[in-house]
Amino acid sequence: MQFKSLVSDPSSFETSPREIEEIAPGVKLLRRAIFQLSALTAFCAIANSKSNLAGGFNEPLPTNRLTLEELIAKIRPEATQLISSIEPDEASYVARMAHLLSQSAELEKYRNFPGGEGWTMEPTAFVPPILLYQIDMQPGAKIDIHDHRYHNGVLCVQKGEARLRCFEPFVTENEPNSVQWNPLAETWPEPGVEFTLQRTRDEVIRVGATATLTRTSDNIHELQAGPEGCRLLDLFTNFKPIALSMRIKWNGEFVDEPKGLCRVSYIAPDHIH
Ligand SMILES: [Fe+2]
Repeated sequence: MQFKSLVSDPSSFETSPREIEEIAPGVKLLRRAIFQLSALTAFCAIANSKSNLAGGFNEPLPTNRLTLEELIAKIRPEATQLISSIEPDEASYVARMAHLLSQSAELEKYRNFPGGEGWTMEPTAFVPPILLYQIDMQPGAKIDIHDHRYHNGVLCVQKGEARLRCFEPFVTENEPNSVQWNPLAETWPEPGVEFTLQRTRDEVIRVGATATLTRTSDNIHELQAGPEGCRLLDLFTNFKPIALSMRIKWNGEFVDEPKGLCRVSYIAPDHIH
């Protein structure tokens, strides 16, 4: 995620006019347009839909939700156990964390940290090995494509909606550079070296919905806020203190649209967390 500029008033998106009619003008959701939620998170999305989706952007969250302290108390022991496991089951872990995040109350914001153009990224809790951010995105704001090294992540939509596109390296005999992408072996293509990604998800996530990534699945993604902006909780679980995200160079074009293939290269570290 790029640190570009300080947003003057991230809360202003709540009252901004609907300037953008589409999440990505001229772009259709061609693959996996339906939520790919686990049964659990799908249930949560449905359960929340009555009070949030129908009620709109400013609808208060239901009561009896988890405070920040309760969240941390539940998450941290599991996180510690996960990263000390010989064969960590990240998929199960992020699914459980997604359920917990979907139960979170609206958390207090202490200050507004700069994120990028049109969005802020508030570090709400930094209790190693976990970090919890609140991301506020103004209508149409975009978090450019990036990866997640040495950590997994869970997103939960608290307000509004966002388009989420995820990618993984496309590995074939003709794609030797993509083979270098092996997070568990801690190898990646060098910056500037082109390799091929394949789109794995393209969907709109709305209030109550969650999305997960692990070190090896859906690890590369980009986000674009919907017409009313959005607020997201973003939970990182770091396997190492050097956890970071890398920016990725992509012209936004697909070399094979039906297969969702695109050519990219790493640029530089985005941020370390
Ligand atoms: Fe991310």
